[in-house]
Amino acid sequence: MCGIVGYIGGQQATPIIIDGLRRLEYRGYDSAGVCTITDGCVEIRRSEGKLVNLERLIGERPLTGTIGIGHTRWATHGRPSETNAHPHQAGSIIVVHNGIIENYLKLKEMLKARGCQFLSETDTEVISHLIEIRFQETGDFEKAVRQALSELRGAYAVCVLCQRDAEVMIAAKQGSPMVVGLGEGEYFVASDIPAILSHTRNMVFMEDGEMVIFRSGQPVFSTVAGEPLEKKSRHIDWSPLMAEKGGYKHFMLKEIFEQPRAVRDTITGRLLEEQGDVFLEDMKLADEELKSVDRVCIVACGTSWHSGLVGKFLIEEMCRIPTEVDIASEFRYRNPVITDKTLLVLISQSGETADTLAALREGKSRGAKNVAICNVVDSSIARESNGVIYTHAGPEIGVASTKAFVTQLVALYLFAIRFGQARGTIDIDRGRKMIADLVHSPSLVEDALKLDPQVEKVARTYMTARDFLYLGRGTSYPIALEGALKLKEISYIHAEGYPAGEMKHGPIALIDENMPVVVLVPKDRHYEKVVSNMEEVIARGGRVIAICTEGDEEVRAKAEVTLEIPPVPEDLLPLVLSVPLQLLAYHVAVLKGTDVDQPRNLAKSVTVE
Ligand code: F6R
Repeated sequence: MCGIVGYIGGQQATPIIIDGLRRLEYRGYDSAGVCTITDGCVEIRRSEGKLVNLERLIGERPLTGTIGIGHTRWATHGRPSETNAHPHQAGSIIVVHNGIIENYLKLKEMLKARGCQFLSETDTEVISHLIEIRFQETGDFEKAVRQALSELRGAYAVCVLCQRDAEVMIAAKQGSPMVVGLGEGEYFVASDIPAILSHTRNMVFMEDGEMVIFRSGQPVFSTVAGEPLEKKSRHIDWSPLMAEKGGYKHFMLKEIFEQPRAVRDTITGRLLEEQGDVFLEDMKLADEELKSVDRVCIVACGTSWHSGLVGKFLIEEMCRIPTEVDIASEFRYRNPVITDKTLLVLISQSGETADTLAALREGKSRGAKNVAICNVVDSSIARESNGVIYTHAGPEIGVASTKAFVTQLVALYLFAIRFGQARGTIDIDRGRKMIADLVHSPSLVEDALKLDPQVEKVARTYMTARDFLYLGRGTSYPIALEGALKLKEISYIHAEGYPAGEMKHGPIALIDENMPVVVLVPKDRHYEKVVSNMEEVIARGGRVIAICTEGDEEVRAKAEVTLEIPPVPEDLLPLVLSVPLQLLAYHVAVLKGTDVDQPRNLAKSVTVE
C-alpha cells in the first residue's frame, strides 16, 4: 500500500505533488520521491523516511516542470531506503507504482538476460525496465505501456512518464486504487481522493484493466487492451478529513473494510497453486532446517498473541508438531526451554513491541531458529530475526488492530502450508485445496462485511451492558478473546473471552439477564458442543448473541439474536468470524461516543516494557 500522485497542466507540478503526497502519507511513509520533466530533462529527487526529508531535499535542489509524478512508499519488496524509493527510471521511462507484481522474479530474469541492470530490490523496477524494453522495440510510448502491462501479473496502479515523449503522462490500474481529477486545463492522478481534493472535486474513478493517457488536452480513457472507454466524472463533496478516511467516519472502520484487499495483498505472489505449496521469499528457512524443528514457540503480545493462538491450531493440525504460544512479557522472564531445534515465531504488527523484541533476543541467545511475522518492513523485529513473513495490510492507523490481525492469520496459514510441505505432512492435493480456499477467502471476508447494518442494530440493543462474555471453541476461542479485547479497548466495557467448554468451571456464575454472551457457533467440528454451551447460558437467563453459519435454524430458534456468516472452510473461520466482532466493538464504541481511533491510555506501538 503506497500513494501515488501525478500532475499535468500549466502550474508547477512539484508543490501540487508534494501536497498530494502529504495527504497520502497514511498509505506509507518509508520513503518518498518526485520526478518532473522540463525541456526534455528528467529530474528525480528521492529520499528515505518521511516526506519532510524529501521536502528538505527539494528545498536544497528544487525541481521545475509542469508534468510530474510522485510517490510515498510502504515497503513490500525491498527495505525502506533511497535506492528502493520511487520513481524508478529505466532509460527514458520513469514509473511510480502502488501494488505487488506477482511475476516480478520471472520478469526480472528475462530482463536481466536482455541486459537490464537493476539498481533496487523492488518489484517496481521490473515495470520500468519492461516498458523501456517494449519502448525500444516499438518506438511508441503508449504501445510500450500497453504491451508491458499485459505482461504483468498481480496488482498495480502505475503512473508513467517518458523522457522521449515528454508531454505525455499515462496511468493505469489493476487491483490497486486510482482516481483521476479533472481541473481546468490540468489533470491529476492519485491513489486516493484527499491527495487532489483541494484542486478539483470532479473525479473519475478508474476500474481494473483501465488506462488513461494525458496528451495535451482531455484525458483519453481506454482499456489496457486498447478499447476506447467513455468514463463519467463524479462530483465529490467530502470534507478533506472525510476524504482522508475514504469517506468512513473513522480509520478503524476504513481498515475493517479494507480487509478483503489486505488479505488479497498478503497472499498475492506467494501461492504455487500447481504444487500445492507457497513461496515465502524472506522466510529464509530451508526445508532441511524446517525438518529439524522439534517444537514451535510462538511469542507475541495482545492481538498478535491471539493470532498466535490460532497459529497453534493450524501448525499442530497441518504440521503435526508441538506448538506453544507465549505472551512475550512472560516468555522473556520465564527461563523457557529453548534449543537449536526450537523454532521461534515472533508476531508483531509494528515490529517494535519491546517485549516481543526482547523475547526474540532471548530466543536467539539460546540458539533458536526464528522467523517474524510483521507488517512494518525493516522494523526492529523484522531486522533482527533471521527471516520474516510480511503481512501486506498497509499502515494501520486505528490503534485497535483489525486488518493487521486478519493478515497475521493469513501469514500463519501460509506458513503452516509451507512448513507442512517441508515436513511431508501436507501432500500436494491437500495443499492445493488449502490454497484454493485461501484464494477464495477475500470474498468471504467481503460477504461478512455485509453484516455491518445488522451489527449496528445489535450494538444499539446491547450497548448499555456493563459486561460482555465471548465464548468459542477450537480456533473460535482465540477469536472470542480477540472480540472481547476489541470491545474493551475502544468502548471501555468490561469483556472476557472464554473457551466455551470452560464456562461451567467458573464464569457461569456471572450469567444473568444483564450479561450479553457472544457465542461463536459456526458449523464446524465443535458445533454441537457449542450449541450445548449456548443452552447452558440461556437456561440461566443469559442473553445470547450468536455468530453462526447462514440459515442455521437451530441456533436462530435459541439465541436472542443471530449474526450469520457465509459457510466457510473450517481453517479459514477465524478470518471471517473476526469481522462481525470488530464491527460490534466499533459500533458500540461509536454509540458510546468514545475516541475510536485513539482510545484512552493506549498506544499503537508499545516500545516500553
Ligand atoms: C490491540 C492491539 C495490541 C497489539 C499489541 C502488540 O488492538 O493492537 O494488543 O496487538 O500491542 O502489538 P504488535 O503487534 O505491534 O507487537
